[in-house]
Amino acid sequence: MKSFFVTTPIYYLNGEPHLGHYYATTIADVLARYNRKFADGAFFLTGTDEHGQKVAEAAKKNNVTPQEYTDTLSKVWENTWKDLGISYDYFIRTTNPTHKALCQLVIQKLRDSDDIYPQKYEALYCVGAESFVTQSELREGGLCPDHDEKPQIVLEKNYFFRLSNYKAKVLELIENNTIQISPESRRNEAIELLKNPEVGDFSVTREKVSWGIPVPFDTEQTLYVWIDALFNYMSGILAKKDIDINSLSLDEILDTIKDIWPPDLHIIGKDILKFHAVYWPAFLLALGVPEENLPKKILVTGFFLSDGRKMSKSIGNVIVPQDIIEYFNGITDGLGNDILRYVILREMRIGNDGDITKEKIIGIYESELVNKFGNTFSRVLGMAKKYGMKFRDLDIHHGGRHNPLQVDEDASVNEVEINFDLDSIKRYQSWMINYQIYEAIHTINRMLLSIGQEIEFYKPWELYKNGNTEKLEALMRNWLESLHQIVDVIDPIMPSTAKLMERLLAGENIHIFPRLEK
Ligand code: MSP
Repeated sequence: MKSFFVTTPIYYLNGEPHLGHYYATTIADVLARYNRKFADGAFFLTGTDEHGQKVAEAAKKNNVTPQEYTDTLSKVWENTWKDLGISYDYFIRTTNPTHKALCQLVIQKLRDSDDIYPQKYEALYCVGAESFVTQSELREGGLCPDHDEKPQIVLEKNYFFRLSNYKAKVLELIENNTIQISPESRRNEAIELLKNPEVGDFSVTREKVSWGIPVPFDTEQTLYVWIDALFNYMSGILAKKDIDINSLSLDEILDTIKDIWPPDLHIIGKDILKFHAVYWPAFLLALGVPEENLPKKILVTGFFLSDGRKMSKSIGNVIVPQDIIEYFNGITDGLGNDILRYVILREMRIGNDGDITKEKIIGIYESELVNKFGNTFSRVLGMAKKYGMKFRDLDIHHGGRHNPLQVDEDASVNEVEINFDLDSIKRYQSWMINYQIYEAIHTINRMLLSIGQEIEFYKPWELYKNGNTEKLEALMRNWLESLHQIVDVIDPIMPSTAKLMERLLAGENIHIFPRLEK
């Protein structure tokens, strides 16, 4: 059985992770955890993009060699994700020898098949974006659209990739959804790019950038950082499996990773759509990768804004997740990271831009985490305690779920049980399968709400007073079982909270989301 293969972009090492990076990585983490728990397992790949001019310049500024610089900084990234409990299966660095070997095999194969050819040219290049830009894309003052930088003029002899030979095929694959792109607006943008005659053959090597993977058949050249970067999605699996690719053909390589390959989901930001939706499939087609082995879906996120602009190291307006997490760690029992995860996923529908302020987080913390999650748990567990009922005494069958208000007031205990159903869980699962975490969270909130409504409807305190123990027990079992299911569905989204909730259900006297002091 193939496991769910999910990737984040690999991040440039010109700074430390900020909220924008945390966002994509958290989405991938939630989906990987979901698939491990509810489906056939996951392979979750993340890492760092270590070559190119941008990283070389950052190293120079710090007076160290690029290798020293990337060795130090990639550890910072890896440790940040580890500290945040990000459940990646492999952390790929593009300076990894397996990665380099794969890239050299790729460029050699493209040369052998005449998919690349040498050409002299002059163009504008933005180092911040590691991308060629055209005059028409520039902002006021001749600046790069995403960076406060003026592009450089580059005059070089390079090797060009015959993108023009593959555009029609990639277009067809996107239009017939062999490669899905979400949201729709980004799919349309990719289609526009593929129809745009200006998007043509492009340079895949650099002559004057020494910090890169050497081109095996031309010692003057290194690989363009973006080609190098995209192949991390393949080399990451090979490196994890520790496969020596030196004597293997690409077909044999793909055969060794078929329990994971192809990618089910690439999570990317909207600024790197062209690379993933146009260049990446075109390269794979040029290498002879069959259609069914191309990436299945590209999920394109919007930007975290700060002061109305993209949060970015180059712009200097970054918020780091740790600051927010520490604040909430001080209030809860180490749930700061979970709270931030919840809020960013609950606040931003994937694809939209958005910003997060401390006030916004506090608002959602109080209205949902305290008032719905915390409150429902303490209400149900408080009643169970008062009525002398323990979770394990009630013989809870994991997986049952009620359908609250359809239950008739006078229904017998058996009827109450018959009305258990799995609708909410199924709804949650179908959102998650479609990567709609925002809606999945909404479903969980509805589940909590329905428990509250049910309590109001059945008035268990009256049943207790009237000595209607049989019905009271049936209802309490129902509610406790529901809480258990909430733990299951919340686990991929807030794993530490789920653990605390389990301890609560086991009868420990702890508090999950305390009210903030005014
Ligand atoms: N190294 C390339 C990606 C190579 S993938 C084969 C790169 N790196 S990056 O560090 O500049 O950006 C990595 C990802 O972070 C991109 O998807 C980018 O969109 C995302 N973000 C960077 N700043 C962001 C925000 N302010 N908000 C949301 N995501 C943003 O591009």
